[in-house]
Amino acid sequence: MYSQAKVIAGGLAHIPVVIAVFYFILTTFNKRALKFVEETKTKKTEEKAVEPKKVTVSKTEAPKTEAPKTEAPKVVKKKHADVPVNIYRPKTPYEGTVIENYSLLKEGAIGRVNHITFDLKDSDPFLNYIEGQSIGIMPAGEDANGKPHKLRLYSIASTRHGDDFNGNTVSLCVRQLQYEKDGETINGVCSTYLCDIKPGDKVKITGPVGKEMLLPDEEDSNIVMLATGTGIAPMRAYLRRMFEPTEKEKNKWNFKGKAWLFMGAPKSANLLYEEDLQRYLTDNPDNFKYTKAISREQQNTKGGRMYIQDRVLESANELFNMIEDEKTHIYLCGLKGMEPGIDEAMTKAAEEKGLNWAELRPQLKKAGRWHVETY
Ligand code: FAD
Ligand code: A2P
Repeated sequence: MYSQAKVIAGGLAHIPVVIAVFYFILTTFNKRALKFVEETKTKKTEEKAVEPKKVTVSKTEAPKTEAPKTEAPKVVKKKHADVPVNIYRPKTPYEGTVIENYSLLKEGAIGRVNHITFDLKDSDPFLNYIEGQSIGIMPAGEDANGKPHKLRLYSIASTRHGDDFNGNTVSLCVRQLQYEKDGETINGVCSTYLCDIKPGDKVKITGPVGKEMLLPDEEDSNIVMLATGTGIAPMRAYLRRMFEPTEKEKNKWNFKGKAWLFMGAPKSANLLYEEDLQRYLTDNPDNFKYTKAISREQQNTKGGRMYIQDRVLESANELFNMIEDEKTHIYLCGLKGMEPGIDEAMTKAAEEKGLNWAELRPQLKKAGRWHVETY
């Protein structure tokens, strides 16, 4: 028989066991709860980092990510999360007013290439953009099926501050597409529409779009540019950002690297923005190099038309010395047809330095240093 004292003593003896079980349950639950909170937090942070964000900036001040000035550029491609995209879409485009539309060509040039500027000041939300992006243009009228024309993309040729530095315009560099078919001259729909519009006309604009052709933040980066024809458009914006005095005052981006433009045009009269480029050369001899390939006036070593890839080969050593520097970015813009030629030239140029272009190009791409926009 148990005495009352024995029962009490037995009960007391179980207390440590009960406490231990209780403690075990509590700590296990706490650990799990903590783990869950941590996991949720990490997931949210990751989502935030990749989420493309619309940036609304004042009309004169631009979105600027502060770059560490002393650090070397990171080899890993940036996500450009805060670059403005698709502020205006095809269903609700912005109607911009044409400010100016003039020919960029000289007497004797081939075809039609115009510089066209649109007013953005009435856009709400404000249509801001950065150098290297494109906008969409929706030509007036309807296609053969009675449907509104689809938009066409055009590289932006102005800096975010615009040609007048007030931050409320956007400019394009447009070549009229023309080709012969069955003995008839066909004019491209949108390029003809753009080359023909007059100051005061309203034009449907979408965008901005594109993160492929953005400039690096680092002021000591080197920028190699390979352009044919209107492929100069984004390069014009880069070069203005680097060398145009009033633009530099606005952007506070003190470019200290080397910029090298390879420009392909059929004739000297077709060279675009030539006066500005010559001025940048005179003012910045140590930071700017300008190499032209004038296909119908100059010959390559084989007696054929001189293309930018021929110029690349001529400069193979110097160019690859630059490419080996991880601060160097290469931008290719213009005719799609130039890509195989450029690849071939880069392959030969790399071989001369004992490098393998087929291996190097994907590495440059992965590092966000090889930028291509051809059409
Ligand atoms: P369309 O009326 O659309 O005609 C084009 C069509 O005509 C082609 O699809 C093809 O089917 C046919 N065609 C074309 N050539 C021939 C030929 N020789 N023989 C038979 N058929 C042919 N253009 C610029 O001028 N400046 C720029 O800065 C610029 N930037 C661009 C940026 C990007 C990202 C992209 C994708 C394109 C860019 N373009 C630029 C090209 C532009 O978007 C248009 O494609 C171009 O203006 C032609 O449009 P279009 O409406 O005049 O021609
Ligand atoms: P070409 O037309 O003499 O053959 P634009 O747009 O003003 O016509 O300029 C494009 C320039 O690019 C021209 O000089 C043109 O030469 C040149 N080009 C044409 N095809 C290629 C190619 N496959 N690779 C490099 N450049 C090219």
